[in-house]
Amino acid sequence: MKLTILGGGGFRVPLVYGALLTDRAEGRVTRVVLHDLDAGRLSAVTRVLAEQAAGVPGAPEVSATTDLDEALTGADFVFCAIRVGGLEGRAHDERVALAEGVLGQETVGAGGIAYGLRTVPVAVDIARRVARLAPDAWVINFTNPAGLVTEAMSRHLGDRVVGICDSPVGLGRRVARVLGVDPREAFVDYAGLNHLGWVRGLRVDGRDELPRLLADPELLGSFEEGRLFGADWLRSLGAIPNEYLHYYYFNREAVRAYQRAEKTRGAFLRDQQARFYARMEDPDAPALEIWDRTRAERETTYMAENRETAGAGERDEEDLSGGYEKVALALMRAVARDERTTLILNVRNRATLSVLDAEAVVEVPCLVDANGAHPVAADPLPGHATGLVCAVKAVEREVLAAAESGSRAAAVKAFALHPLVDSVTVARRLVEGYTAVHPGLAYLR
Ligand code: G6P
Ligand code: MN
Repeated sequence: MKLTILGGGGFRVPLVYGALLTDRAEGRVTRVVLHDLDAGRLSAVTRVLAEQAAGVPGAPEVSATTDLDEALTGADFVFCAIRVGGLEGRAHDERVALAEGVLGQETVGAGGIAYGLRTVPVAVDIARRVARLAPDAWVINFTNPAGLVTEAMSRHLGDRVVGICDSPVGLGRRVARVLGVDPREAFVDYAGLNHLGWVRGLRVDGRDELPRLLADPELLGSFEEGRLFGADWLRSLGAIPNEYLHYYYFNREAVRAYQRAEKTRGAFLRDQQARFYARMEDPDAPALEIWDRTRAERETTYMAENRETAGAGERDEEDLSGGYEKVALALMRAVARDERTTLILNVRNRATLSVLDAEAVVEVPCLVDANGAHPVAADPLPGHATGLVCAVKAVEREVLAAAESGSRAAAVKAFALHPLVDSVTVARRLVEGYTAVHPGLAYLR
């Protein structure tokens, strides 16, 4: 089985490869093709993977190319893990927004819109090529903003593209743990859009355990989201929000903290990763060791330096190790081997959330088998969640329209309609500011 990784020179690729190395079963991935625009990054990551594979019998064979069509041809699975504009682009997304007094963050608010505007055209081009060169392949999209990018690709690939995120799994796991429930035994009733969802229930043998958590201030105070949102607010909501909702519910505090931070998260990662790739220019450098050390620092150093902006902090090792690669592998195995499983994924809505149309990509529990990911029937969202979900979906649709037409007016509308952008004037200035720094937005006229 051939797996193609787009963004194959990316820093997280060794996590994916490490997960593949643990898979010994029949029907596993035997060939990995890394694609990246940057040959230097490809060679750095290839060296890390070679060291990971050393001594592992049956390790998937790895090759690398800068030719996209060659990478896609014959792929069974395609992981789309690109970052258009790189981490420098992410740092711009953050800074331009913060300078206007609104949230500057990778995926939420103005920063996420800017990221979406430059990523969608590239993702659409990839989707068209996959449809032509590997029509039977399954595309697993990691690229942020994941819900929006998955929706853009689904217009060309239908249900053959599935978006993934590690945050709902992590949240479900933390809620289960605090309730003393085995996460594997629990059904997590989670619904919304990517980075905009709520755990509304956690069922074990058909019994909802969440009310027990909401009724217990001590339990609420003992896990990450409880500390982040505060017990009172969680009880008022009657649900546990995804940590990204902190940017909505505590927007003013988040913006201030980010404005005060010495470096944004994007700028920190940009500098840190630049050092990694620079060190890898030495052909004798111990690749895996350097990568591993950089990965560990990625969390600890930033958290230590920027307590306020690093979220709730204090995550355990399992959470720090991400989980993207685990979700991706679980999805791939379920599809490739028809091993039925339930995962929270980004898929087309069909009739799952009644306030959205069938084509809207939503993030909900799905039953996965050889025929793909099928959303499980979900209760309607409460009014407050409906409001946010519909507003943000409308913004996403404006981003898709702007990317398709190149209309600057549509881009302004996308920013202006976002609940975290408080003025049309600010939206216009954001478009000015972003087009000035992002070559990838030159298409807006
Ligand atoms: C979580 C989110 C991802 C996001 C990442 C940012 O894992 O689910 O969508 O990209 O955090 O992490 P970073 O280390 O890049 O700030
Ligand atoms: Mn995510």
